[in-house]
Amino acid sequence: MKKAVILYQSKTGTTQNYADEIGSYLQSKNINTQCVPVGEYRDDLLHDADYLLMGCWTKGLMVVFQKPDDVWSRCVQKIHVPQQTRVALFATYKIRTGSMFRNMAKHVMPAGNSSLTTLKSRHGNLTEYDKFVLDEFLKN
Ligand SMILES: Cc1cc2nc3c(=O)[nH]c(=O)nc-3n(C[C@H](O)[C@H](O)[C@H](O)COP(=O)(O)O)c2cc1C
Repeated sequence: MKKAVILYQSKTGTTQNYADEIGSYLQSKNINTQCVPVGEYRDDLLHDADYLLMGCWTKGLMVVFQKPDDVWSRCVQKIHVPQQTRVALFATYKIRTGSMFRNMAKHVMPAGNSSLTTLKSRHGNLTEYDKFVLDEFLKN
């Protein structure tokens, strides 16, 4: 059975809901999935993980300077992603994600992950398009 870890940071629940919906979808694909807030991250969670999906709410000046919250960045910087683990990023937002994914990717080690799969949502609900993106992500 494939294994996935979903790591997220949420202030008011939207990103948590999105993480939960992504998790339910992966479970429905028979992937053993754990959904974990950044405060509960432990290195052993990634042991044997095939997929790591990391998500955060968008922080910025609404139209410019979007980046992940420092709490998310500090947690992600400490993670050394195992070589076999494929990474995707997700974010929730109100107006636009702008530079969000670029700035999230900077914290993902090993570096050089400029073409990571990304998912985004205003309301934290998984859409049919998101399912399509996840299906493609799982194929690789
Ligand atoms: C301080 C602050 C800055 C934000 N900056 C942006 C932004 O630049 N662009 C945007 O689209 N949404 C922005 N938002 C909206 C949040 O990213 C959005 O509501 C998100 O879904 C909240 O996620 P959460 O419920 O998981 O905390 C901002 C919210 C806050 C509190």
